[in-house]
Amino acid sequence: MTTEQTSGGITRRDFVAISSAAGMAAFIAPSVLGAQDTGSSLKPLKVALIGCGGRGSGAANQALKADKGVILWAVADVFPDRMDSCLKQFEKHPSKERVQVPAERRFAGFDGYKQAIASGVDVVLLCSAPHFRPMHLAEAVAAGKHIFCEKPMFVDAPGYRSVVESAKAAKAKNINLMSGFCWRRSAPEAATFAQLEKGTLGTPMAMYGCYYTGPLGTNKRQPGWSDMEFQVRNWQHFTWLSGDQMVEQAVHSVDKINWCFRNEPPKSAVGMGGRQLREAMPERGDVYDHFAIVYEWADGRRAFLNCRQEPDCYFENTDWIAGTKGQCFINGWGPTHVMKDPAGNVLWEYPADGPKSDMYQNEHDELFKAIRDGKVINDGEWMVVSNMMAVLGRMAAYSGQQVTWEQAITSTESLSPKQYIMGPLEMPLEKKPGQYKVL
Ligand SMILES: NC(=O)c1ccc[n+]([C@@H]2O[C@H](COP(=O)([O-])OP(=O)(O)OC[C@H]3O[C@@H](n4cnc5c(N)ncnc54)[C@H](O)[C@@H]3O)[C@@H](O)[C@H]2O)c1
Repeated sequence: MTTEQTSGGITRRDFVAISSAAGMAAFIAPSVLGAQDTGSSLKPLKVALIGCGGRGSGAANQALKADKGVILWAVADVFPDRMDSCLKQFEKHPSKERVQVPAERRFAGFDGYKQAIASGVDVVLLCSAPHFRPMHLAEAVAAGKHIFCEKPMFVDAPGYRSVVESAKAAKAKNINLMSGFCWRRSAPEAATFAQLEKGTLGTPMAMYGCYYTGPLGTNKRQPGWSDMEFQVRNWQHFTWLSGDQMVEQAVHSVDKINWCFRNEPPKSAVGMGGRQLREAMPERGDVYDHFAIVYEWADGRRAFLNCRQEPDCYFENTDWIAGTKGQCFINGWGPTHVMKDPAGNVLWEYPADGPKSDMYQNEHDELFKAIRDGKVINDGEWMVVSNMMAVLGRMAAYSGQQVTWEQAITSTESLSPKQYIMGPLEMPLEKKPGQYKVL
């Protein structure tokens, strides 16, 4: 798999595709593109982007592509340079006339999100480091905005409880809440899980998911950076900011487990993990580099999740399901989606020439279509279960204990620092199983 495939950012291929599509549109419909705000007769939908990194830039691009009435209206990021580099990417964008973010609508700092949400927008794209998502989501829901909410939505149990409340409030207010669990919007995966739902594999009894990949990059400490700035600029490597690899990255595999078991939380989890190959450098924070988790449901069904971010090792990101009528293998990147009976006969297979749409684009196409049609998508109920299952797995590995779902969701362990200021901040320590208490 390539970085292009995994990040959902603005890819070269993407850019060429939109360039030519926009070029065609300009050629055949100049009068429509001439309209004042959006180049479209559609009512403008103003969008605020919060978190202007790779994924945020990608999400803004996908929003612009999804609906010709979209205007990128405001941005927020703790760091001004991140907003500048994000907006620079749009200077030659085919829809650059719909990127209308003057200096007064670029909001820096930890509170910038509040101003971006209050800047008169209809939709917000929540794409910052995960730690801040619960507060960003709560603010967006309180302000009645439609929301695209990247995964993970929270990193600890207080965050879970906050997001559960926000998702309920969004539902009560008829606000769209689209999650960034992109595999749910991938056509081959959707077809596979629809077959599971139909019973083609019988009852799913066990599932194995894996996310074996390499280490993520780091940002070397620069003179003048406070401890807080250093950690936020290296957010993937700090558990309080990212939730650790289990919650930040392998949560995609956990989400497929949750999908398979129909969004029913497991009873408990046990697991292990560690920092076998993380270099001893501050940029590598406190996150583990491997996890192996076993989830168990009340009736004895089990799911297994292995993930690793280690250099020079085997890469794989696939899923396997054992049902009472056979087995299913899913390689989203393959693509291979096949169900076989115990004798090896194919029960069902996603056709080689079946639709292979861009799941990241699908999320935005669906979101903006729902807004236009006055419909409401709310991923809240299941996205909190997927995310919390990943937190549960991390709790089990860090503590070295069996942790129940009930213990996990009622846990008072908060990963938040005392205050959000660019100043001194302790370096977190590695968590030692058997010694670290999560409950
Ligand atoms: N669905 C997917 O496949 C997918 C792929 C990549 C990333 N993601 C998710 O998207 C999110 C962002 O990841 P990324 O790859 O863009 O990271 P990134 O580091 O490129 O960007 C994150 C941005 O958020 C900013 N930020 C941090 N704290 C903030 C705060 N309090 N307020 C405003 N901005 C803040 C950072 O300065 C940075 O510019 C993460 O949650 C990540 O897990 C999802």
